[in-house]
Amino acid sequence: MSLQNKRVLLASRPDGWVSDENFTYDTVDVPDLAEGQVLLQNVYMSVDPYMRARMNDAKSYIPPFQIGAPLQAGMVAKVLASRNANYSEGDYVVGMLNWEQYSITDGNGVDGTALRKIDPNLAPLSYHLGILGMPGMTAWVGTKVIGEAKEGENLFVTAASGAVGSVVGQIGKNLGCRVVGSAGGPEKVAFLKEELGFDEAIDYKNVASPHKAVRQAFPDMIDVLFENVGGPMFEAAIMNMNFMGRIALCGMIADYNTKPSEMEPGPRGLFTLIGRNIKMQGFIVFNYQEGCAEWVQVASGWLKEGKLKYKETVAEGIENAPDAFIGMLKGKNFGKQVVKISDA
Ligand SMILES: NC(=O)c1ccc[n+]([C@@H]2O[C@H](COP(=O)([O-])OP(=O)(O)OC[C@H]3O[C@@H](n4cnc5c(N)ncnc54)[C@H](OP(=O)(O)O)[C@@H]3O)[C@@H](O)[C@H]2O)c1
Repeated sequence: MSLQNKRVLLASRPDGWVSDENFTYDTVDVPDLAEGQVLLQNVYMSVDPYMRARMNDAKSYIPPFQIGAPLQAGMVAKVLASRNANYSEGDYVVGMLNWEQYSITDGNGVDGTALRKIDPNLAPLSYHLGILGMPGMTAWVGTKVIGEAKEGENLFVTAASGAVGSVVGQIGKNLGCRVVGSAGGPEKVAFLKEELGFDEAIDYKNVASPHKAVRQAFPDMIDVLFENVGGPMFEAAIMNMNFMGRIALCGMIADYNTKPSEMEPGPRGLFTLIGRNIKMQGFIVFNYQEGCAEWVQVASGWLKEGKLKYKETVAEGIENAPDAFIGMLKGKNFGKQVVKISDA
């Protein structure tokens, strides 16, 4: 009897917030392997904010998901069978695959990029989707390459307890910066200070004035801003930037579920960037391959030395991937959100 493969497909495009109705499921037989193909058992799947943009039918740096087809995600998988000389049964790989239990590939992910073998003894498998994977690489590229953070500087990161933000703050501390983060709620803020060693943390959901909160947290102004969110905290940060500061524009999650017609104008205060000679640059992590490779080396060393902590929220089962994704967009995740699809 052939293996049964449960998949999650895009049912419809969201108009504003994503809901369960935007997803549907099917189960298909796993076909026999042809020459050159590899059969993968998917173990951990990543859910990330950028997937929200892929649900829209809009031109972007990455193509939209198609209605009636599986969504796609970064995945850690185990090779169950191989007729491809580059992969052997028992190998572990990372690549872009469908939201499904089993995948058959020609050695490439659905994005055409070769599956990357990983060492299962280096760290828990799920880490390759977070601290050792795309979010960790993003944190390094934004902080070090774009933000040029240096010892003694003041670093501010928004969405600081999340997959990217929690690593940004720790990179900052390891480089000798003074680090402040903003996150939603007392539990997340306590985690930043007590577990990750941030110097200060702002609960953006409980401040009367974002501007005053940022000014208080940065008596010497901000040298590097790692921006993940947009909105009022971003404006407050802009107005508190130091002379020759750098802003790494990584994400604008506050806007991902807002209809274009309902978006607030802004940010205000951009004149600050002119008078204070501030560099602001957006970036997509995959355009910085050198920085990504460098991060895997740096992070592996820091993990061994106990200089990086890592927190994740794990949902169980491919059928719960939509809920995990929607929850992450609403801030229900604490650290990196992944979905465990099977035992390794
Ligand atoms: N440029 C790139 O190459 C690249 C790569 C990866 C990620 N990113 C971006 O980096 C950002 C963080 O991604 P991630 O994977 O690390 O996600 P994450 O931070 O693990 O999860 C998203 C978090 O965003 C916060 N959030 C959601 N809505 C918010 C709002 N309206 N205002 C303030 N905070 C809000 C929530 O935390 P709270 O509970 O604290 O609100 C939530 O937990 C996203 O903007 C993402 O698009 C960019």
